[in-house]
Amino acid sequence: MNQITHLPVNCWYAVAPVVTLTEEPLLVPFAGQDYVLFRNRDGKPVCFSDRCPHRGASLSLGTREDGCIRCPFHGWLFDGGGHCIAVPADGDGATLPARSNLKDEQAVCEHAGFIWLWLGEQPADHSTLPNLPEFSPKQWQHVSNSFTWDAHFSRVIESNLDNSHAYWVHKGTFASQDSPLSIPYDLNKGDDWVSAKVKFDLPLPSALKLMQRLQGKGPGLSAETTFSFFHPNLNIVDTRVGDFLHVIFVNASLPQSESQTISRWIKYSPKKAFNMPGREEKSTEISRTIFNEDHGVVQSQRPYAVPLDFSQESHVNSDVLSIEYRKILKRKQKG
Ligand code: FES
Ligand SMILES: [Fe+2]
Repeated sequence: MNQITHLPVNCWYAVAPVVTLTEEPLLVPFAGQDYVLFRNRDGKPVCFSDRCPHRGASLSLGTREDGCIRCPFHGWLFDGGGHCIAVPADGDGATLPARSNLKDEQAVCEHAGFIWLWLGEQPADHSTLPNLPEFSPKQWQHVSNSFTWDAHFSRVIESNLDNSHAYWVHKGTFASQDSPLSIPYDLNKGDDWVSAKVKFDLPLPSALKLMQRLQGKGPGLSAETTFSFFHPNLNIVDTRVGDFLHVIFVNASLPQSESQTISRWIKYSPKKAFNMPGREEKSTEISRTIFNEDHGVVQSQRPYAVPLDFSQESHVNSDVLSIEYRKILKRKQKG
């Protein structure tokens, strides 16, 4: 396990949207370790070290067979409890050495559309899973993907809580250039979560803008976003534009090292009877563009980890959400 500053332990980490755990095994890189996730015979997710005990190949490149996982290199087969049950090259009745079982089993569970991994020495405590909205596939359609940041997880989480950078970083994508004002309101918080709302204008093509002004309407389309954070690694960014647009972006930040974090995200919108061809690709591309805009500045932040001594950076009203995030992180370091 890498030494990563402020890394919370003895808690559940959201590590992958449930929809990304298909019939195939799934690689979960986390804090310098590679894990493999797959569903056992009962359909429950199980998690082990991704390294095959035979010659160290990556099991997530293998296949799932009847609730077992088969290594891609020499075909050893492991059941959902991690026991090696077949070594094809040695035939039936092969003698299995003691070290032939999978290692590092981790407690995992499914909750609110994500797979969660317990990190820590203490026993996994299901009562500490956060209370989150569920997005039924009957009502919501989704797009899911990932993004790798050259940044500490705390900087990535804060970038997903911070609206005051939108005017400066996302001009031309979703941020209006009419005003940089961005003060969060309706702050709500608990011991391990926080949320607040922000209003902002979306950019309009200039002709449309002029028409709106001539008609005495406002300068742009007004959007309202609720930013939420759930300890230790989940952000929800819920944006509404009047009655005609609603997008909920849920992002799990997986710490990798002091200077690398992987985002695994899913974006929900109300289910439509008809979608334009290529919608998913287009939607994924928009999110990648936005992440790349963020990445340009987030990767430049130093120190890598956010300072938990509040005197080391400067704080203003528009930073209230990142201040509250730091308070949670600080509290959890002690807990
Ligand atoms: S490395 Fe996995 S079976 Fe040989
Ligand atoms: Fe951003």
